[in-house]
Amino acid sequence: MPRTRLHIGCGPQILPGWTNVDNQTYPGVDHVLDVTLGLPFRDVEYVFAEHFIEHLSFDDAFNFMRECRRVLATDGTLRLTTPNLDWVMETHYRRESWASDVDAIDSCFRTNRAFRGWGHQFLYNCQSLEATLRLAGFGSIEGCTYGESRHEPLRGVERHETYPDAPSLPHILVLEASGHGAEAPRGVRAAIDEFHSAIDTI
Ligand SMILES: C[S@@+](CC[C@H](N)C(=O)[O-])C[C@H]1O[C@@H](n2cnc3c(N)ncnc32)[C@H](O)[C@@H]1O
Repeated sequence: MPRTRLHIGCGPQILPGWTNVDNQTYPGVDHVLDVTLGLPFRDVEYVFAEHFIEHLSFDDAFNFMRECRRVLATDGTLRLTTPNLDWVMETHYRRESWASDVDAIDSCFRTNRAFRGWGHQFLYNCQSLEATLRLAGFGSIEGCTYGESRHEPLRGVERHETYPDAPSLPHILVLEASGHGAEAPRGVRAAIDEFHSAIDTI
């Protein structure tokens, strides 16, 4: 009996052999559901979510990662692909390269577009994504490159359009999380609490 492989927030990018999940009824979607309400699966081998978590609020993304940990089998792996905040800042807001007010204005709009465009709600750098995965209960976090994995079924699964990487700075973060229960770095909870108190004042 083949084990369950979940492709979450698949959009129109259907992966054969995977259980494709989205909250929209794209052709080929196997389960139409809002995953912020929980994942009705168990003993899952892999969860793959490409350009998905940035479309959730931080809290929803954190709860989603916790749900992934809960439904994954002991030897299961979560693979997340999401825009790299370091790349966004490096390529969108370079004060040293401004030659005119037009350049400054362009940087301002491009940066806000990266944060707010396409339904984006929260962008991560590598450290914050890793810390959030650890808080969600994962013990081992591994950085990968686009299309590559030491797990054969996770190789070549990305479908989203790519952008030119900055020198030594990839435009996306690709992390694989597995295992249980390492400590998150000190200070993470304080940063999240401060973020909450600012967001909750809206
Ligand atoms: C930017 S698209 C990414 C699609 C595809 N993974 C790709 O990389 O091209 C984000 C997808 O997440 C889906 N989505 C957003 N919120 C969701 C939720 N709460 N539950 C399930 N799917 C959701 C959207 O419908 C959309 O198809």
